Amino acid sequence: MSIQGKDYVTITDHSTGQSMDLPILRGTDGVPVIDINQLRKKMNLYTFDPGFVSTAACESKITFIDGEEGRLLFRGYPIEELAEHSSFLEVCYLLLYGELPTEGEYDKFRDLITHHTLLHEGLREFYKGFRRDAHPMAIMVGILGAMSAFYHDSLDISDPNSREVSAHRLIAKIPTIAAWAYRYSKGEPFPYPRNELGYASNFLHMMFSYPTEPYAINSIAAKAMDLLFLLHADHGQNASASTIRLAGSSKANPFACISASVGTLWGPAHGGANEAVIKMLADIGSTKNIAKALERAKDKDDPFRLMGFGHRVYKNYDPRAKLMRNMCQQVLEDLQVDDPLLEVAEALEEAALQDEYFASRRLFPNVDFYSGIVLRALGIPTNMFTVIFTMGRSVGWISQWNEMINAERVRIGRPSQLYTGPAQRAYVPIEQRK
Ligand code: CMC
Repeated sequence: MSIQGKDYVTITDHSTGQSMDLPILRGTDGVPVIDINQLRKKMNLYTFDPGFVSTAACESKITFIDGEEGRLLFRGYPIEELAEHSSFLEVCYLLLYGELPTEGEYDKFRDLITHHTLLHEGLREFYKGFRRDAHPMAIMVGILGAMSAFYHDSLDISDPNSREVSAHRLIAKIPTIAAWAYRYSKGEPFPYPRNELGYASNFLHMMFSYPTEPYAINSIAAKAMDLLFLLHADHGQNASASTIRLAGSSKANPFACISASVGTLWGPAHGGANEAVIKMLADIGSTKNIAKALERAKDKDDPFRLMGFGHRVYKNYDPRAKLMRNMCQQVLEDLQVDDPLLEVAEALEEAALQDEYFASRRLFPNVDFYSGIVLRALGIPTNMFTVIFTMGRSVGWISQWNEMINAERVRIGRPSQLYTGPAQRAYVPIEQRK
């Protein structure tokens, strides 16, 4: 194969003497990729990259991350600008449709989301099947998966309109699903959504109101919650986004795929880290114990890791963590909350950033490091932290899924393997086995 220009690398298998030119593809920004699509066919070779450290698994126009510089763009817009000027619902529109909405488009979209917030009453009954002490993320996996049993009219994935209705349903209903998971664990009534409230305010109302008395929305809390959702809205091809692309490539319905992503996000190496950070800060307890915690995090024989630190892509300060840290200080000040964990977190960050181990590995705070302290100040219980992450990220998942379905050629995801098990051998009857 010959390729014009210099945009290719040549690969040679010295055992056979076979060579092949592989095209280098360049996107709008970021690291170029080598197109190895024909490698198996032409050279009878696979590539080996556990954890996808050097592998681009798809083409995408949604989110760009520059890990070296600590830049994050949604459809080209820097996260800092969106955090300052936009809102979660506007970002939902941007991620789903590719452009910021006009005023008319935004009003229509907000109206649509507002009028899809109710859950099928049969779905409400589902909650009763869970144990009261179930983790709310377990309930999220179950209820979101069960949506495929209730919303049959939007499951035709070959129909763009059907896919759009599913996306709207997901964004609209997830606050209701999440808040009810919490209310169920408390044995409390399930408040219905209220259409006169904004997205984040409505969620706070369903989390904390009682039918016996009026509930006043705290505007500082509503603004902070909206920003939390916005900062989590998408993040490229992370584990849960890759999950939805892989699950969706089998042509499974969107709610089944979302449920798979929720399960992936739950892990402490991914979205579950925000819950783990608070547990870690509480265990450290005081700035006196920071040196000991750092020693443990550096000890390869100790499974303890500094939660909320490190990232596969960011080798610089995670821009979301910077925004989260500022928000954390502001929210605590505005709500006049004195959380001793903030002092521990700030001192831990400072000590880690000065430590050779963390500096040489370029480990910085990530989005989860400060989010838990903000959530605590808003009265959100620790076991709901990953649920909040899920709510923000659901628009990212459905946008990634939609992009994947819309791609020119959709093939089922099917990674290969380097097989190192036994070579072929004959079956041994049980009486002859030693
Ligand atoms: N504490 C101590 N050492 C760490 C940490 C940490 N938090 N993170 C990475 N390292 C070390 C790791 O031991 C390895 O050292 P060495 O080169 O000596 O073997 C080196 O840094 C590279 O780490 P890695 O595990 O190869 O990196 P990865 O890209 O596979 O993992 C990560 C990324 C986020 C899973 C990891 O940094 C981690 O476990 N962090 C703590 C959990 C966390 O905060 N997760 C949230 C991620 S951001 C939000 C999200 O994605 O949901």
